[in-house]
Amino acid sequence: MELIITENYEEMSAAAAEIVVSLLKQKPAATLALTTGNTPLRLYEKLIELQQSEQISLRETTIFSTEEYLGISEDAYFSLYNWLKRSLLQPCDIKPDQIIRLKGDALHPDKECEYFSQQIEQYGGLDIIIEGLGTNGHIGFNEPGTKQNSRTRVVTLSEETKEYNFQYWNHEVPDRAMTIGMSEILAAKKIVLLASGTKKAEALYKALKGPVTSEFPASFLRLAEQLTVIADKDAAQLFMQEESVWQST
Ligand code: GLP
Repeated sequence: MELIITENYEEMSAAAAEIVVSLLKQKPAATLALTTGNTPLRLYEKLIELQQSEQISLRETTIFSTEEYLGISEDAYFSLYNWLKRSLLQPCDIKPDQIIRLKGDALHPDKECEYFSQQIEQYGGLDIIIEGLGTNGHIGFNEPGTKQNSRTRVVTLSEETKEYNFQYWNHEVPDRAMTIGMSEILAAKKIVLLASGTKKAEALYKALKGPVTSEFPASFLRLAEQLTVIADKDAAQLFMQEESVWQST
């Protein structure tokens, strides 16, 4: 695991963008699994700027949209895929045939999840997955109680997650969602975990220093050597005494 601590959110986003840039240089047809939430938004803006200034091209990539609320269509205001579309896919002119997503309104949600898993395999695995961190330790929508070997599936959201996610819409969020599984996250060739702000400090510390347990799914990430954690000073404040991990950018 590599832990990069940055001065602020802007630098956290820049460090994450550098990782994506270097991947695209090596592999223009990379598979990128992306999340929503507020944390990756500046990274996405940077990728848009880089593509617009022709410093990178996402044209050959395949994008996996890794979470969605159950029963929600892609046009819905609440759709997480719609959020990703607005924040990155549309501005980068990503074509529909470059996108693999979880369809929240699929007739057979379980089959839809299975299909998503198969697609990951068919594309030769994920070259990179970008994740944010839930304050209760969730990754994607892998809530406390998640098994390490879980695959993409329908999950019930915890009360904490529903309350937290209320902020995005100022409206109650659905009870259930689809999420990429923990096993598929851990199998990605590169995992980038982003954390910003004091509200993530405790969760980040637990994820990296607490017991590896289903009760705090983010802790499973430590089992992956290919994990890079990029946290700003506020999120990393509980690590700040440990100079060995300090790597200011
Ligand atoms: C949400 C999403 C996660 C996200 C997390 C943190 O529930 N399912 O993918 O990483 O919570 O969100 P934020 O980045 O807005 O703090």
